[in-house]
Amino acid sequence: MSGAKEDRPEKQVIPVYFDDDADLGLLDGTIAIIGYGNQGRAQALNLRDSGTDVIIGNIRDAYWDIAVSDGFEVHEIRSAVKRARFVMVLIPDEVQPRVFEESILPEMTSGKVLCFASGYNITFEQLVLPHDFDTILVAPRMIGAGVRDAYVKNRGFYVFIGVHVDISGMAKQYALAISKGIGATKPGGALLEVTFRQEAELDLFNEQCFGPAFGQVLTTAVDVAVEAGYPPEAVLVEIYMSGELAYTLEKIAKLGTLKQLELHSPTSQYGSMSRGIRYANPELRELMQKSLGEIQDGSFAEEFAKEYELDLEILEDMKKMAQDVPIVVLDKEVRERLRYREDA
Ligand code: NAI
Repeated sequence: MSGAKEDRPEKQVIPVYFDDDADLGLLDGTIAIIGYGNQGRAQALNLRDSGTDVIIGNIRDAYWDIAVSDGFEVHEIRSAVKRARFVMVLIPDEVQPRVFEESILPEMTSGKVLCFASGYNITFEQLVLPHDFDTILVAPRMIGAGVRDAYVKNRGFYVFIGVHVDISGMAKQYALAISKGIGATKPGGALLEVTFRQEAELDLFNEQCFGPAFGQVLTTAVDVAVEAGYPPEAVLVEIYMSGELAYTLEKIAKLGTLKQLELHSPTSQYGSMSRGIRYANPELRELMQKSLGEIQDGSFAEEFAKEYELDLEILEDMKKMAQDVPIVVLDKEVRERLRYREDA
C-alpha cells in the first residue's frame, strides 16, 4: 500500500509557469497521442495546430475512424510508440496498465519522453516503470471539449505539470512545451507544478469529498423545499435546472467567491451571508478527512482495482439502485412536464 505521509509538507509554495517559460521548439520529434477520446482528440488537434508533428496510436474501434476523418495518420498503438519521440498516454486510467505492458513499454527506448494526463497509476503503483526515460505529467484541469474550445477561442487554461523521472535533465522543459502546444499557456492559463501524488490525490479528493457532499446538499435542499409544499417543477428549476447554478459556479471561477456576490441582489447577499455560518459543519469536515485518508493511504485505489477486476459489478449495482432514489425519479418527472430537450 502506498501513501507515506512524510512526503507531504504542511504548506508549499509551488512553482507556477506561463507562456514565456515554455519553448515549443523542444517538441522537435514526432508526438504519438495514444487514445483519441475526450483528451486525446482535443490535445492532438491543438498540438497539430501549434505546428508539431502528431500521429495517433489507437485500437481499431470507432475512435480510430474519427482520428482518420480528422486527417491524422493513425497506427496500432505499438507502432505509433515506435515511430514517436514523445508518447502521450490518453486512454482511460483503468486500461493503461495492460496496454502499457503489451504495447507501450516494449517500444519505450531511452531518449523518448512519456507523458501522462493523470498521476493515478504511478502514484498508486498500478504501473511500475523502469527509470530509463523521462516520465512527465501534463494534466489539464479541463474536460477535453473545453481544451479544444479554449484553444480555438485563444484562451488558456490551468494544467498541473509534474516530473516523475528526469533522465535528460530536460523533463520539466518538455512538460512546459507540451502544455504550451496544447494551448494551456494562451492568455488566462497557467501551469502549476505538483507531484504525481498531489495531482492524483487532489483529483480523487474533488471526486470523493467535494462532489458527493455537494450532491447531498443539493438533494437535501430539494427534499426540504418539496416537503414544505413547493411545487417540484418550481423547486428543481429554482435549485439547479435553470442553469443559474452553473453560471454562478463559472463566475466563482472567474471572480472568486466574494466578488461574485456583487452579481446578486442585496437581499440575496444579506440572506446568504447572514445564514451561511449555520451550515458550517464539523461532521462534514471529519467525513471529508476520512475519505481523504482512504485516498492517501492507497486503500481506495486497492478497492477500485478489485472492483475493476470484477467488471465494475458494484458500480453497476449502485447505478441501478440510484434509478429509484427520490430526486432521480422527481428529476425525470419534472423534465417530462417541462418538455426538457437535451439538444435545445
Ligand atoms: P477516454 O475514455 O475518452 O478514452 C477513449 C480512448 O481510449 C479511445 O481512443 C479508445 O480507443 C481508447 N481505449 C479505450 N479502451 C481501450 C483499451 N482497452 N485499449 C486501448 N485503448 C482503449 O479517456 P479520457 O477521458 O480522455 O482520459 C484519458 C486520460 O486523460 C486519463 O488518464 C484521464 O485520467 C486523463 N484526464 C481526463 C480528463 C477528462 O476530461 N476526461 C481531464 C484530465 C485528465
